[in-house]
Amino acid sequence: MKSKKDDDCYSTVKIKNEKPSPESRAEEEASALCHCSLMLLCFLIFSALIAARIVITMQINVMMIKQQETISNVTTENERLIEERKMMENQNKELNRTLGLILKFENIPAKDLCPNKECKPCQKDWILFQEKCYLFYDSHPWLTWTESRTFCRDKYADLVVIDDLKEQEFVSNHTKYYYDIHHGYWMGLQHVSNTWTWVDGHADTLG
Ligand SMILES: *[C@@H]1O[C@H](CO)[C@@H](O)[C@H](O)[C@H]1NC(C)=O
Ligand SMILES: *[C@@H]1O[C@H](CO)[C@@H](O)[C@H](O)[C@H]1NC(C)=O
Ligand SMILES: *[C@@H]1O[C@H](CO)[C@@H](O)[C@H](O)[C@H]1NC(C)=O
Repeated sequence: MKSKKDDDCYSTVKIKNEKPSPESRAEEEASALCHCSLMLLCFLIFSALIAARIVITMQINVMMIKQQETISNVTTENERLIEERKMMENQNKELNRTLGLILKFENIPAKDLCPNKECKPCQKDWILFQEKCYLFYDSHPWLTWTESRTFCRDKYADLVVIDDLKEQEFVSNHTKYYYDIHHGYWMGLQHVSNTWTWVDGHADTLG
């Protein structure tokens, strides 16, 4: 009885091995499907990684291009500011010079000195020499010494006072061509109580 039961059991197992039951077949198919879908998943992940890499690379490129543009913009802006600063410094110098000029005068002839808002050290037709302006005026009518002085003072100046040999040479250079027995210029020297004095008050030192 017992052995018959064993035989029965064996035959059952044998049959099981040779002809797989429909359940086991389904299991195997499921396993293959699982394998396949795992590979698909791997492939998808791989693809996703490559896609992500491409996207990141592209984004980095875009960022780099933007950064380069920013650097270029900042560099341009910096150059513009340096240029502007230079201009401002020049303007500042010019204004400072103008202020210095204005402070020299009690009544500045602004119309003559600053045409178009740009102040010059000397009025039109005057000559600059060692920070002073000179006008060599030889137009008619001829004037007396006193008339000449009035003429000068009307122009916020005075007859020339010669302080040193350089100035004397300069004045001499510019008066030569209009100097003979009938022509000449007045200077700011006058004979007061037996001594020659300059119009600015100091005594004649040039002899
Ligand atoms: C750079 O300047 C250009 C033109 O001035 C402007 O259109 C652009 O937006 C600027 N780029 C950056 C990144 O600031
Ligand atoms: C302005 O001019 C004065 C002389 O007129 C000079 O001493 C001074 O340094 C100048 N200042 C500037 C900022 O240029
Ligand atoms: C005067 O004229 C001479 C000759 O032209 C020149 O060498 C000299 O530098 C001039 N002097 C002045 C102070 O202008």
